[in-house]
Amino acid sequence: MTDPLLHPGWPARLAWGPVELHPLRRRDAAEWSRLRVANESWLSPWEPTATAPWMPRHSPAAYRAMRRTVSRRARLGTSLPFAVRVDGRLAGQVTVDNIVRGALLSGSLGYWVDRAVAGRGVASLAVALVCDHAFGPAGLHRLQADIRPENARSRRLVERLGFRHEGLLRRYLDIDGDWRDHLAYALLAEDLPGGALARWRQMSPGRPGD
Ligand SMILES: CC(C)(COP(=O)(O)OP(=O)(O)OC[C@H]1O[C@@H](n2cnc3c(N)ncnc32)[C@H](O)[C@@H]1OP(=O)(O)O)[C@@H](O)C(=O)NCCC(=O)NCCS
Repeated sequence: MTDPLLHPGWPARLAWGPVELHPLRRRDAAEWSRLRVANESWLSPWEPTATAPWMPRHSPAAYRAMRRTVSRRARLGTSLPFAVRVDGRLAGQVTVDNIVRGALLSGSLGYWVDRAVAGRGVASLAVALVCDHAFGPAGLHRLQADIRPENARSRRLVERLGFRHEGLLRRYLDIDGDWRDHLAYALLAEDLPGGALARWRQMSPGRPGD
């Protein structure tokens, strides 16, 4: 059981049109493994450096171990780990991690989607729903997204949602084989008085939810 005092806003289900977000499910192990294996070249440039090869790190057993870890973090109030579904099919993940409460009330945003659903506004809709949840029921004040300068898609996603570029983090994360510079983007609860979903609806042509 999650203690609502430790982690307000968890567990949660968020949805808009064909896009649904929910806590990671045990039964998604095989589908997650299939997606992650099929998307190796799409995902690996943005993933932490690893010592083991991609396949064993993305087996159904690896999913179950990862799910146990993130579920524990969610219960402790340090993570909001969502699976993303599009038309009922698993299509990615959005996570707010390293949540610190107290005077900071901040978390770090991470996300990926299946290449097959990219370029349709699905990822930005999923991130918008998580932003509104983080600033609403979860009670956070700041969401940070640290993005490699080369990751144009990810930068466009956060910029469209109103995140501001706050600076350069030198050789900040060990990604894809080396320490990589990252751009620090952040969104504050008061930056979007109408919410991130309303911003997404303004910015997206031919929205998936309408
Ligand atoms: C980063 C990532 C999640 C972005 O996904 P994405 O699908 O490009 O992002 P969006 O959902 O915002 O879609 C954006 C595109 O859809 C278009 N779009 C938006 N709504 C649309 C709609 N209803 N119909 C058609 N197209 C639409 C936008 O115009 C945009 O295209 P553009 O960027 O060429 O202008 C994805 O590239 C990914 O998973 N990458 C690998 C992992 C990764 O980099 N993670 C982040 C690390 S920091």
